[in-house]
Amino acid sequence: MISISDLSVRVAGRLLIEHASVSIPDGMKAGLVGRNGAGKSTLFRVLTGTLSPETGSVSLPKQARIGQVAQEAPGTEDPLIDIVLAADKERAALMAEAETATDPHRIAEIQTRLVDIDAHSAEARAAGILSGLGFDEAAQKRPASSFSGGWRMRVALAAVLFSEPDLLLLDEPTNYLDLEGTMWLEDYIRRYPYSVIIISHDRDLLNTAANAIIHLDQQKLTFYRGSYDQFERQKAAADELQTKARIKNEAQRKHLQSFVDRFKAKASKARQAQSRVKALERMGTVAAVIEDHVQGFTFPEPEKQPASPSLPSKTALSAMNPKSRSFRISI
Ligand SMILES: Nc1ncnc2c1ncn2[C@@H]1O[C@H](COP(=O)(O)OP(=O)(O)OP(=O)(O)O)[C@@H](O)[C@H]1O
Ligand SMILES: [Mg+2]
Repeated sequence: MISISDLSVRVAGRLLIEHASVSIPDGMKAGLVGRNGAGKSTLFRVLTGTLSPETGSVSLPKQARIGQVAQEAPGTEDPLIDIVLAADKERAALMAEAETATDPHRIAEIQTRLVDIDAHSAEARAAGILSGLGFDEAAQKRPASSFSGGWRMRVALAAVLFSEPDLLLLDEPTNYLDLEGTMWLEDYIRRYPYSVIIISHDRDLLNTAANAIIHLDQQKLTFYRGSYDQFERQKAAADELQTKARIKNEAQRKHLQSFVDRFKAKASKARQAQSRVKALERMGTVAAVIEDHVQGFTFPEPEKQPASPSLPSKTALSAMNPKSRSFRISI
């Protein structure tokens, strides 16, 4: 369980999150949505501990590993497959130690642990991830420095996926993926064995990969179970109820106020007028719904990346795919 309690976050003097609380059960694949500039990426900085909140706290299970795509995409001379393999720090350390260890007891321990963490399948798993993100076998052996920035971001994504953190944070990963890569990632997230929070404006991705939505809205965080479409329906229903309550509240207030206005000067009715003034105070008001959601709009899927360096036919495959991805959410 990830527990965010009473969280307030201020950036450059502006309060982005104010006394927000939300709990995310383990293993959830949650989409984090909210309008541009709401503070979604900032919330990630709080989750990773790079930004301190003004109030409140975030609590994660003890020793939970958080992973996100490295800001600095790898650009070294190392082959892609090695970069991805190195992302599993424990495996890398054990492999290095196995080379030099002489104590038979320690060697046995290392071997047992390597079996426990499924180290023998590591290369195949790393290759599978790279392949899903568009790198064929030959490309996997090429140095990272031979790829452009967008392709290096995919390598960084592959690395964090391979490291299998307990909480995986993804901030708009479709920015550097083509359609085929996006669809592969959706499937990967859906089957991911641990928790994921993904910031995305891609309705299809959220519907396919997420089973919960966290809405950052008016400085608050709200957790909804279900896909993006289900969230939108729940939110629309809640907004409708709130609007109805506001209209009813306003009508009642108007009625009470007119009584007060009519009779406040009349000595015989002064007490009733006074009690209605009190009733008005007790009632309070219902806030208007601020519309900043729904209204998906058609947005033709642009070709964000050049064709795969190794398999140019993938672009053609993406273009032919009948799956519609024409909706971006507007929150
Ligand atoms: N280091 C910073 N210094 C000053 N202002 C910042 C800084 N980082 C973020 N902001 C501001 O804080 C607000 C929230 O930014 P953030 O990047 O968290 O929003 P977001 O919800 O991720 O938006 P988007 O959907 O556009 O990515 C924005 O108004 C942004 O301009
Ligand atoms: Mg952002």
